[in-house]
Amino acid sequence: MPSFARPGGWGPRPYVGVYALHTPIDLRTVCGYNSLRSIQDVDRLYPPSRGGALEDIVSLVPIGEPRRKITVASLREKKLHHEPITCLTAYDYSSARLVDEAGVDIVLVGDSLAQTMLGYENTLSVTLDEMLHHTRAAHRGVKHALLVGDMPFGSYQSDPSDAVRNAARFVKEAGAEVVKVEGGEKRADLIRRIIDAEIPVAGHIGLTPQSVNVMGGYKVQGKDLSGVEQLMRDAVALDRAGVAFMVVEGIPREVAAMITAEVETPTIGIGAGPDCDGQVLVFHDLLNLSFGHPAKFVRHYADVGATITGAVQAFRADVAARHYPSDEESYHLPKETRAALDTVLERKRAMRR
Ligand code: KIV
Repeated sequence: MPSFARPGGWGPRPYVGVYALHTPIDLRTVCGYNSLRSIQDVDRLYPPSRGGALEDIVSLVPIGEPRRKITVASLREKKLHHEPITCLTAYDYSSARLVDEAGVDIVLVGDSLAQTMLGYENTLSVTLDEMLHHTRAAHRGVKHALLVGDMPFGSYQSDPSDAVRNAARFVKEAGAEVVKVEGGEKRADLIRRIIDAEIPVAGHIGLTPQSVNVMGGYKVQGKDLSGVEQLMRDAVALDRAGVAFMVVEGIPREVAAMITAEVETPTIGIGAGPDCDGQVLVFHDLLNLSFGHPAKFVRHYADVGATITGAVQAFRADVAARHYPSDEESYHLPKETRAALDTVLERKRAMRR
């Protein structure tokens, strides 16, 4: 399934400092910061007789910068310095943790989870509670990335006060740092109200899946002059409203490039060509975990679907052939219990004879 019709892995976990093996420091002065409780502990573990204590060789100066928390401000810095911004969707603890630890800047709990996780036909059915549930789970896996919660269809389109209340739920109940809403010019006032309530907002223009019934399908937007003009107006309106970033989806490369050059807000493209300030993909598309025909812009960086199918088939075959579990994969009685049990069983057999 194409992402348009969307059903569709930095090294060690927390930053473990890699320390330069040059500047001598006195480890004793830092005992309070690690698990060594006393100077005796240090001497026991690193006796001078063994070529000197750790303090002779280890510096507490980390090689390279520890990873910084991504904020709305750091996204702007990236745009200013022409550093590409990375964004992936993730919808639960494990995928969000993997995405975060791989160094991706933005984790988006997209409403595409309607299809990828919940098997709905499109994004229109997913509820606010379902979105909050998945955002909470993703939040537990994210340390450094900016966590963005996608406001589902119906949660912001009608009453602005309801929209602000619903946006606040993403922050208060689910740990989102930014909420995303679809729409350009016509959403600018609402976006200002949500930002006024101290909630950063991301925009989303071009092919906006929540408008599928209005667009008459998942179609590339901005292909004629009036479409290009509307997209430019949408982008400028979001820029002026002060969005944290704007997703530009399903538009010609040339238009995405014009928008990116025109606005100060970072643009994150999906099906919008290589000239945006960053790129986003749906996690399941990247891994070929989606069902159906992929959209033109989808690149499969791994075939996890095939890996899972192979593993599940192998398990099934092993169980059917009684090859799983092996004796090595089984727990065993302690020797004494086994001997006692043998004696009891032997007695029972003797009584039966
Ligand atoms: O819901 C989603 O996954 C999205 C991204 C693909 C931009 O909105």
